Amino acid sequence: MAKDRIAIFGDVHANLEAFTVALDIMKSEGVTHYVCIGDIVGYNANPKECLDMLYDLQPIAVVRGNHDEYIGTEQELIGFNPQAASAVQWTRKQLKDDDRKWLSQLKYETTVRRMGTGMPPFRIVHGTLDTPQAWGYIMNRLAAANSMQYQTPNALCFCGHTHIPMFFVMEDSNVEGFFYPENEPVAIKPNMKYLFNVGSIGQPRDGDPRGGFAIYTPEDAVVQLYRFNYDIATTQQKIRAAGLPERLAERLEYGR
Ligand SMILES: [Fe+2]
Repeated sequence: MAKDRIAIFGDVHANLEAFTVALDIMKSEGVTHYVCIGDIVGYNANPKECLDMLYDLQPIAVVRGNHDEYIGTEQELIGFNPQAASAVQWTRKQLKDDDRKWLSQLKYETTVRRMGTGMPPFRIVHGTLDTPQAWGYIMNRLAAANSMQYQTPNALCFCGHTHIPMFFVMEDSNVEGFFYPENEPVAIKPNMKYLFNVGSIGQPRDGDPRGGFAIYTPEDAVVQLYRFNYDIATTQQKIRAAGLPERLAERLEYGR
């Protein structure tokens, strides 16, 4: 039987061009299951198309991102920067009631189990495990340690939200942060806690404009990050044609 290969991705942010390339790579890499860590919509110009593609994948788990929440509900946009707020309002109008209802029922975090496969259960959350509904950002070891208290050793956690691919390892009570090696898997050692941020498909912010996602292969105990180029010019054109803020188009080419 083919090995389980679990694609874990998020922060698609309605970027159809990036999502299409990512899915092609996942298929050619032999992915068997899909897990989404949230923010399928918001910022870019193809929210409906990206949601339909996600439904078609029949993901084994999806959690709620902050944009999914703002767009799926009538929540007031207090404290938002004007670009983010106008993208939320625009996106609300592009979706059907059913889509918004689907977004609004997503859980903040969940545990993914694959019964009978020997895979240890793992957690997924958009922001942090300590206060998932507060949308905190894990940018350093302290924030990582706060979230990782909610993990048991050997139970991995995958997150997103910062749009910066990196991972944290906790051994005893010491936490270290790492960037992923290029084109090489990260080997998971027993009795340690790992928190993997899988980066962003549709709006990377680590200064590298390539989209990113991870594939977890439980049988080999490895997680690998993938980066990919896509047609940024087309995505930008669509943002401009939709009348979305210019800054949302510009940032894609800088990965900021
Ligand atoms: Fe996001």
